[in-house]
Amino acid sequence: MGRDLNLGLECWGIGFQNPVIIASGCIEYDESLSEVFPFRECGALVTKTITLDRRDGNPMPRTTEVDCGMLNSIGLQNEGIYHYVKKILPRISNELQIPIITSIAGFSIEEYASIASHLDREKAVAAIEINISCPNLEKSKDESLLFAQDPYMSYGVVKAVRESTTKPVIVKLSPDVTDIVAIAQAVVDAGADGLTVANTYPAMAVDIETRRPKLGNITGGMSGPAIRPLTLKKLWDVYSNVRDVPIIASGGIMDASHAVEYIIAGATFISLGTVNFINPGAVLEVISGIKDYLLRHKMSYKELIGSLKID
Ligand SMILES: Cc1cc2nc3c(=O)[nH]c(=O)nc-3n(C[C@H](O)[C@H](O)[C@H](O)COP(=O)(O)O)c2cc1C
Repeated sequence: MGRDLNLGLECWGIGFQNPVIIASGCIEYDESLSEVFPFRECGALVTKTITLDRRDGNPMPRTTEVDCGMLNSIGLQNEGIYHYVKKILPRISNELQIPIITSIAGFSIEEYASIASHLDREKAVAAIEINISCPNLEKSKDESLLFAQDPYMSYGVVKAVRESTTKPVIVKLSPDVTDIVAIAQAVVDAGADGLTVANTYPAMAVDIETRRPKLGNITGGMSGPAIRPLTLKKLWDVYSNVRDVPIIASGGIMDASHAVEYIIAGATFISLGTVNFINPGAVLEVISGIKDYLLRHKMSYKELIGSLKID
């Protein structure tokens, strides 16, 4: 049932075969993985966040399972932008033939702008997702604020990226803020074309026998089913206050019912992260579950977006 319904959509001048996206950092493309993971069936792939220079990342262990989710503290390990542009991007864009959204992070506004201007020349980059959850070193190092926690700094990063590229710019917000609407509005005012709501939540876990933190970095980011109601509320806040900006939902989507919940609350796209580690078939299940839902409710995908009924 539902298999013939077309979920294709056009957004930011990009054609997507469906709205189900792979979240940044949660699965890396590899030819051998293609046998078990349906990369080519996804709406788009957001690649793991890259920085200007190579980064080793945080001390091990970097992931740990917790009730209803997982914690990670990868620490933006990556080989840097030149390796990405030369080695990763050409391969994935040739082999996958789906839109590639490149996630970027920087430790200063200039760094963000510099990465964006490099990517602007790359035809294979469909859009740029700005991960603003990096420590904000523009301020005093004693203040461990993230760019994402300060509307002025968020505005500055997005404006600088906007001026460095003509590609669509999507901003991935942090949920760890007092007022996500203020940050969302600031980045839209700075020229963001889309928003991803949201990144992981700061968290920690302790091994009580060794009395040591379970993550080498002590703390990390929580993802998975536990965060879904929290992120859903943030997405609804953003959708109902910052109108007309397509939103990518990211937080605890494990099956099609969760995806539909986010779409009803205002998401145009849904992204899958943690679920990929436990169910490589989730993408296909979510796609076909959304189709089934639309057929059952005799609705188009467009009609479903933001269709929450409030009396
Ligand atoms: C192991 C791991 C690595 C991640 N790496 C990144 C990253 O490099 N950049 C980023 O923006 N988000 C990263 N994330 C966050 C995910 O993209 C996603 O926003 C978050 O996990 C919430 O979605 P989920 O509950 O479906 O996993 C990572 C998440 C995990 C679990």
